[in-house]
Amino acid sequence: MIKMRRICHLIFRLLFLLDGGVWSLRNLTISVPRAVLSGEGQSAILRCSYDLEDAALYSIRWYRAETEFYRFVPREMPPTMVFPLPGASVDLTQSDHQQVRIVNLNRRLSGDYQCEVSADAPLFHTDIRSAPLTVVDPPFRAPHLTISRGSYARGDVLRANCSVDEAYPAPNITWKLDDHKIAETVSWRTSDLDFKERGAFSQLEITILEAEHYKMGLTYTSASLNRAYQDTYYGFEKEQKEDKEILRYTLIPPPSGQFTLSCEAKIFEIYTRKSEPMYIREDAPHPASVTGEDSSGTSIAHSALLTSICAGAVLLHAL
Ligand SMILES: *[C@@H]1O[C@H](CO)[C@@H](O)[C@H](O)[C@H]1NC(C)=O
Ligand SMILES: *[C@@H]1O[C@H](CO)[C@@H](O)[C@H](O)[C@H]1NC(C)=O
Ligand SMILES: *[C@@H]1O[C@H](CO)[C@@H](O)[C@H](O)[C@H]1NC(C)=O
Repeated sequence: MIKMRRICHLIFRLLFLLDGGVWSLRNLTISVPRAVLSGEGQSAILRCSYDLEDAALYSIRWYRAETEFYRFVPREMPPTMVFPLPGASVDLTQSDHQQVRIVNLNRRLSGDYQCEVSADAPLFHTDIRSAPLTVVDPPFRAPHLTISRGSYARGDVLRANCSVDEAYPAPNITWKLDDHKIAETVSWRTSDLDFKERGAFSQLEITILEAEHYKMGLTYTSASLNRAYQDTYYGFEKEQKEDKEILRYTLIPPPSGQFTLSCEAKIFEIYTRKSEPMYIREDAPHPASVTGEDSSGTSIAHSALLTSICAGAVLLHAL
């Protein structure tokens, strides 16, 4: 039966090519959200659009990882068929020949979704498109930020840690200094078949430049975004690689001497949460000592110069 259909399909396809073209399926596109939240009340609408030209629709089928879960065949009564999709259900009231709505998703339903459209006789022209969907279990709490000191002196190195509770998938962590994004830790893709929740963390070292650099009037110095990759799959090997994963940033403190540091956990475009900001200020500055060094340095130079001028004058006078 299926073979017969294939042969007919081939014959018609040949005729069609000779004929120069109607009854075909064109412009098949799939539209699936990149990510949705898991759980009760959450849903995802998957759409498939196509142009059948003069042909009628024979069927539209939806698959997750090669397993069919929804079929729409207009000629059949009823036209809709649903197959078990463990970890979610299909909302029939909002599913038809163009879209399927799935509700109450579990993160194990993350993966590739496919839409297959077949035109009706005589050609049964069939095409298929695929797109990934990730079902997200976000972290429970906001990211937690700790910092080695709440104040600094010029030349200090501040160390900061940002950690995020377990989530699926592991979030990316972005560092913000006075609301400028300065660095980020990107979580590596985990294996497709692994739906484990994982925590994430990021370490940042900020070197505060000395006063001389500050006078040059620069602000933030690390020009491009610093990026580290956190391997969430081989996370247990962390110890050996720890040093490589420390992000480094060089800062010329702002004129006020104060700045804020915060970190943000992000999962695709659907989850973003920021830590409490940390206000970091300069230790009571000591402009007197800086000026003192400078002026004493100059006065020594001055007096040396004066001495030699005087010595010269004395010599000249003597001649
Ligand atoms: C369909 O594809 C044709 C070319 O294959 C293109 O000219 C046309 O704009 C497309 N239509 C839509 C709605 O995308
Ligand atoms: C950051 O985390 C590392 C490793 O977990 C730890 O050794 C270090 O003391 C932490 N630093 C701060 C400032 O909390
Ligand atoms: C993390 O960032 C990378 C690079 O920008 C991006 O490709 C990836 O999708 C992000 N991961 C998550 C979970 O948002």
